[in-house]
Amino acid sequence: MRAAVITRPGGPDVLAVQQRPVPTPGPGEVLVRVHASAINRADVLQRSGRYPSPPGVPADIPGLEFAGEVVLNGAGSTLWSVGARVCGLVGGGAHAEYLVTHERAVAGVPDALDWAHAGVAPEACITAHDALVTQAQLRPGDTVLIHAVGSGVGLTAVQIARQLGATVYGTARSDVKLDVARDLGLTAGATPGEPGWVAAAARGWTGGRGIDVVLDLLGGDYVRESVAALALKGRLVLIGTLAGLESSLDLRYMLSRRLTVRGTVLRSRPLEERIAVTQAFAREVMPWLANGVVRTRIDATFPLEALAESHALMESNATAGKIAITM
Ligand SMILES: NC(=O)c1ccc[n+]([C@@H]2O[C@H](COP(=O)([O-])OP(=O)(O)OC[C@H]3O[C@@H](n4cnc5c(N)ncnc54)[C@H](OP(=O)(O)O)[C@@H]3O)[C@@H](O)[C@H]2O)c1
Repeated sequence: MRAAVITRPGGPDVLAVQQRPVPTPGPGEVLVRVHASAINRADVLQRSGRYPSPPGVPADIPGLEFAGEVVLNGAGSTLWSVGARVCGLVGGGAHAEYLVTHERAVAGVPDALDWAHAGVAPEACITAHDALVTQAQLRPGDTVLIHAVGSGVGLTAVQIARQLGATVYGTARSDVKLDVARDLGLTAGATPGEPGWVAAAARGWTGGRGIDVVLDLLGGDYVRESVAALALKGRLVLIGTLAGLESSLDLRYMLSRRLTVRGTVLRSRPLEERIAVTQAFAREVMPWLANGVVRTRIDATFPLEALAESHALMESNATAGKIAITM
C-alpha cells in the first residue's frame, strides 16, 4: 500500500510516500481501506520530532483520523459488513491506504457525508464534544468561549455548543476567521488586545457575569486571560498549547470563584476510552452531521502525495477549518 512516511525529524520535506505492507486485522479488529483523512497539529509535531506516536501504532506513518470502507474482518469481528462506510480516530497510521482498528472504535458514516467530510470529522467533533459535554458538563443556557475559534476544532465546537443550547463567543487573530465562525453560529468575537482583553470582552458580552465554559485551544497567556473571564463555578478545558507551554494564574480568583481548570488529550487514551468517545460521537454528533446542522468546514484538500504542502499550509496558520487528505 502507499503510505506517507516521516523519513526523519524535520520540516515538511522529510515526508515521502513509500510502499508498506497492508496491515493484518487481529481479533476484534477491522481492516479499513482509507479514502480520506485530515492533517492535525499532532502530525506536524510528530514530523518535527516533538510528539512520538504512542505504543501499538506505526511509529513513522502520521494520521490520526480516517474515513473509509471495511474490507476485511479480523477473527471474531462481526459488527461491520465488508463495504461498510466507517470513520474514526487512531493513534497514528491514517495517512496510508489501509489501516487496522478495533471494530468498536469506528462510527458508521451516513450517506449524506462524502469521504472528505467524513474523514475530517472525527478529531474535531470528538475533541469538541468530549470537552464540552464530558469534561466541562455544559448545560443549556451556558455561555462558551472558544479560543482559536477559526481552527478545525474551533469551528466544529461552535456548532456543537450551539446544538447543546449554549451561546458561543470566540477569539481569533483576524476578523476574517471570526466572520467564518459567525456564519456557523458564533454570537460575537474578539481579537487580541491589551492585557485583560479576554475578561473585558467577556464582561461586555455577558453583562459582567463572565463565561461558564472556556475551550482553550491555545494555552500560554490565554489560560491566565481566560481564568479572569470565568463566571462563578466556571470551567476551563485546556486542549492545546500553540501559544505556549506556561501560564500564571490568579489563585485567589480561582478560589473565590470556585473555578475548574482541566487538561485533556485524545491521542494517548487507552482503547476502551477511545471506544467510549467514538460511540458518544456516533450517537450524539453524527446525526447532526447527517442532517447538516453541524458541518465540518474544509479549507483545502490535498492528495496523499502532496502531504508536505498540506503540513506547510497548516503551519502557516492561514486555514479556517480542516485540511483534508484524499487517497
Ligand atoms: N487535546 C487534544 O486531544 C486535541 C485534539 C485536537 C486538537 N488539539 C489542539 O487543538 C488546537 C487546535 O487544533 P486544530 O487542528 O483545530 O488547529 P488549526 O485548524 O490548525 O488552527 C489553529 C489556529 O490557532 C491559531 N494560532 C496558532 N498559533 C497561535 C498563537 N501562537 N497564538 C494565537 N493563536 C494561534 C491560528 O488561528 P488564528 O489565525 O485565529 O490565530 C491557527 O489557525 C491545537 O493546539 C491542537 O493541538 C488537541
